[in-house]
Amino acid sequence: MTKKIINYGNHEIDYQDIKSVVNTLKSNKITQGSKIKEFEKNLSSYFGSKYCCVVNSGTSALHIALKCIDIKENDIILTTPNTFLATSNSILYNSGIPDFVDINKYDYNLDLNYLESKIKDIKRKRKKLKAVIGVDFAGQPCDWKGLRYLANKYNFYLINDNCHALGADINKNKKYAIKYADIVTQSYHAVKHITTGEGGSILSKSKKFNSIAQSMRSHGVEKGKNLINKKEGIWYYEMQNLGYNYRITDIQCALGISQLKKLDRFVSLRRKVAKLYDKKINLIDNINIPVLKKNYGHSYHLYVCLFDFKKVKISKKMFFSKMKKVGINMQVHYIPIFNQPYYKNKFNFNVKNFPNTNDYYEKCISLPIYPSLKNNDVNYIYEKIKKYFK
Ligand SMILES: Cc1ncc(COP(=O)(O)O)c(C=O)c1O
Repeated sequence: MTKKIINYGNHEIDYQDIKSVVNTLKSNKITQGSKIKEFEKNLSSYFGSKYCCVVNSGTSALHIALKCIDIKENDIILTTPNTFLATSNSILYNSGIPDFVDINKYDYNLDLNYLESKIKDIKRKRKKLKAVIGVDFAGQPCDWKGLRYLANKYNFYLINDNCHALGADINKNKKYAIKYADIVTQSYHAVKHITTGEGGSILSKSKKFNSIAQSMRSHGVEKGKNLINKKEGIWYYEMQNLGYNYRITDIQCALGISQLKKLDRFVSLRRKVAKLYDKKINLIDNINIPVLKKNYGHSYHLYVCLFDFKKVKISKKMFFSKMKKVGINMQVHYIPIFNQPYYKNKFNFNVKNFPNTNDYYEKCISLPIYPSLKNNDVNYIYEKIKKYFK
């Protein structure tokens, strides 16, 4: 018998998803057909954004989102070091200067006190702060009300890298992301809450941002009634800016449309798994389970616990390999970006400025979580953690 492997994340594809994709495959348009607009419309309606532009990844979405705000060389964009590389790489793609703000100890999101003192420091040095990218880490929203207050006070754009938090809420409002941020980006990679295989979107409330996004996703090309018949015929298009091929296909959007219908159910199943973990893992000493903030709905893209390895006198490496041997593939989210060789060589950040991130990284482990994870699996994972974390 082959050993069961439990990965930290898993996509959930059912018969309806397959039917939706097959129907599109049988249609006369498999890319740039009606499914793109339909997916955009459905995303806008679910997340409450006036506009939506779907693209081929969350990384492309971030790249384009920053194109919308027209970053000039030497503009500073602040973000969290506790995120996937794409968040800060998108700043570099746009020739901006990325800088990091330490996380807080409770939800591992941007710490607003550190953020404000960093902003004051930037202002004192007469440098330009263009934007802050908040990441709703693991599925728990940042303090967006506080971030909006700071954005208004110090005049910068607010971007929500919302890739982890589809279906999360603030005060039960699942449309919170675009309520507070100027632009929201999402990813539909296979480990996320819903998937298109690879995919992403830029949600905004600005017509201008949306038309930049639409044009950037396809080589900077502009089409439309206002251009037609001006000097040429209906074939006419213009390239005004340098764009990319970040287009997503109709096949992928057909999957996205079907998946989005199940997002609420996926989130509630993830919450069920998290609740059982909370109950079980709390029984083991020296592990901190995720802290839930009052009036915030966590959507549990990740279930991150902090393990006090020093106290228990086992290394993270050893614990990981013991768990792997019994078929449990955990993960670490994330290696702080300021520790990545590329960023170290280019910017030489002072790691002492990030005490909370450093402490977090020493202890963090993401336990497996996905909608179809069974109670038996959670019990098995709990038993193995209890056995090896001592
Ligand atoms: C926080 C965050 N931002 C951006 C991305 C990039 O998304 P994609 O993999 O779709 O390019 C990811 C993907 O893991 C992510 O977790």
